Amino acid sequence: MKSKHDIIWLEKTDSTNDEVRRRISDLDNLSVLSALSQSAGRGQRGNTWSSESGKNLLFSILLRPDVQAYDQFVISQMVSLAVVDLLASHHIEAKVKWPNDIYVEDRKICGILIENSISGKHIATSIVGIGLNVNQTDFDAALPNPTSMSLSNPDEDFDLHILLDEYLDILSEYLERFCNISGGYNRLAQLYKAQMWRLNEYAEYIDNTISQRFIGKIRGISDAGHLIVANEKGELKEFAFKEISFIV
Ligand code: BTN
Repeated sequence: MKSKHDIIWLEKTDSTNDEVRRRISDLDNLSVLSALSQSAGRGQRGNTWSSESGKNLLFSILLRPDVQAYDQFVISQMVSLAVVDLLASHHIEAKVKWPNDIYVEDRKICGILIENSISGKHIATSIVGIGLNVNQTDFDAALPNPTSMSLSNPDEDFDLHILLDEYLDILSEYLERFCNISGGYNRLAQLYKAQMWRLNEYAEYIDNTISQRFIGKIRGISDAGHLIVANEKGELKEFAFKEISFIV
């Protein structure tokens, strides 16, 4: 089956994000590079991303979006919601753990690493790296809480090529629907909020700005993409990435 998307498939690379960056001058908007395995897969906060060879989706998309640097969180919103929709279409209910993880109940099924380059007030390029656990059922015991599509829905067989095509169809719709449309970002923020993991549920967090644990509930996100959390007194505080840790 020939894909209608522009996808480069590799057996192996170090990291698909790094491979896209090396080829960036040859790649158009919405080019996709996918690998069956990575020798140096990277995660957020300097973590590594490990994946059994040939079992999971490991890919990066190059976007040259018409998005202001201030609005960069909209990219994360569209990319994350497209993963949630893809999983829903395979009967897996997932939520977005702010800012860039996708969870099924208390387990991580997908991680997203977005690397933007900014030119003036605009995003020049965005390399969106996605690791979606698909057919892997055994994970390194050192990983805190992984899951996969196969573990979440054992009744279905998943084909990596078909899944990637489905994902790109969904993401393309988000990009068409929400970029450059007046009011588009507000609607997107509403959709994102509705899919947030632990929204309005009390749970324990660490406020890294003062190194203190607290009980709070997520109330939403600010325009800048910061997490808004209410403490037990109902006082609201906004957190940027790394300023808050979730206790899972
Ligand atoms: C995280 O949860 O920490 C983000 C993980 C992102 C992993 C993907 S796999 C494809 C792409 N290439 C990388 O090196 N990382 C991302």
